[in-house]
Amino acid sequence: MSEKKKLRIGLAAYGTGWDLSGWRLPEATNRGLVDPSVIVDVARTAERGKLDYVFAGSALGSEPDRLNRIFRWDNFVYAGYAAAVTTKLGFLMSVNSSFEHPYAVARQLATLDRFNGGRTALNVVFGIDREGDPALNYGKNPVPTEQSKYARAREFTEVLNRLLYESWDEDFLLDDKAAGVLVKPGSWHRIHHQGEHFEVRGPLNVPRPVQQRIPNVHVGLSEESLQYGADLAQIRFSPYFGLERGKAEYRSLKGRVAAAGRDPEKFKIIPGATFYVAGTSREARAKFREVVSLQATEEIPEVFSKALGVDLSRVSAGERVLDVVDVDTIDADALDAFFSGMARRSPSVVRDARALVRQVLSTQLGEEATFEDLYQYLLRSRDDQQPALVGDANHIADWLEENLEEGVLDGIQVFPPYHRGPADAFVDLVVPELQRRGIFRTEYEAGTFQGLLDTDNG
Ligand SMILES: Cc1cc2nc3c(=O)[nH]c(=O)nc-3n(C[C@H](O)[C@H](O)[C@H](O)COP(=O)(O)O)c2cc1C
Repeated sequence: MSEKKKLRIGLAAYGTGWDLSGWRLPEATNRGLVDPSVIVDVARTAERGKLDYVFAGSALGSEPDRLNRIFRWDNFVYAGYAAAVTTKLGFLMSVNSSFEHPYAVARQLATLDRFNGGRTALNVVFGIDREGDPALNYGKNPVPTEQSKYARAREFTEVLNRLLYESWDEDFLLDDKAAGVLVKPGSWHRIHHQGEHFEVRGPLNVPRPVQQRIPNVHVGLSEESLQYGADLAQIRFSPYFGLERGKAEYRSLKGRVAAAGRDPEKFKIIPGATFYVAGTSREARAKFREVVSLQATEEIPEVFSKALGVDLSRVSAGERVLDVVDVDTIDADALDAFFSGMARRSPSVVRDARALVRQVLSTQLGEEATFEDLYQYLLRSRDDQQPALVGDANHIADWLEENLEEGVLDGIQVFPPYHRGPADAFVDLVVPELQRRGIFRTEYEAGTFQGLLDTDNG
């Protein structure tokens, strides 16, 4: 019997959780905003679960008025610290190619990859969104426009790669004390890069990384992003498009990689998701409702009630959706328009909104769900087109297994709604179930990020 294909799993490390209101739960800790030991523990948890990596995002903008983005640690300092308490776990490092310089980033990446023994990956990003725009803090520098950001990203990546892999030969360290020769003559090379955005002579003043190539992870929906990823990345963070459209998007992304002359099997597609998981689905749903109830309540917008075809002035937000609405008769166009309006940064990925609502009510929130629950659920899924999954370990494992087997995704990046419980629950409840089903590793197969990626996994 051939081995089953296995998931790749990452875990996002933030000072507090991903949810808008989960931080207010009595059991939530937000000390990670001020106490590094708390988020270093996220790395320990990830390694306990044999996860592939922790995701250490980058933030150059400042957003003091966004609760889950008040403070963002410098990700390289974080990863250096957390690497010391782990041995196999990977570190996925975001760097902003629009504002950072490839020479400085090459130093950071090469240093980290040495210090953690080859457990580093790179994620080239451009800033989260308008509100926290890095340009507001880096304004005197020439700031690339939407059109030029990928030209700069490509040049950034080229300079980075040349600095990392062409500066120093493998055998540069002669250490010949008798002859008084420390470094082998001719073992280093200038790169003499003169480009539109960067001028770099080199060589890098840090030895080459442990890995032959530091894996590149990319995210974005534009045509330029899709092509950058197909040409240069090993992993794509993708929105979750749902089962049917997800299969088509997956095939199309892999097709692009093949067209770029690369092996599509070695290119992994990983959406993000938030998990509310507990011993039973009833407990998980209760926790989701508790989190929702902590939201500093905005009124449920009229546009939402209109989309459902309900006059909310006559129905309470606490009423069960299925008592009032027949999902089959919802005006699909109005619902689609609502979803498009919610997608702030990029176009909505929702195609069949009616099917989504039906699915959320039947499998995630259950038939008990109220208008408030449904609205808050959809609100939580909109930002990065990341679904919220609510249920017991079996339910979560079913969802992951179905999406893996149907060819929608190769892995998942977990964004815990709050600290600490959800990351532990994922590792202690979901991971063993995935292992039991043969779709997740029981031991690390390698000690480097690329080594884990290269492992033939069915
Ligand atoms: C899962 C995920 C993680 C991201 N992480 C970061 C990050 O750490 N730092 C950042 O500045 N932007 C981050 N972004 C934002 C992307 O850089 C941004 O969406 C990108 O500009 C989209 O490219 P596009 O304009 O080609 O679609 C992230 C986006 C997603 C979906």
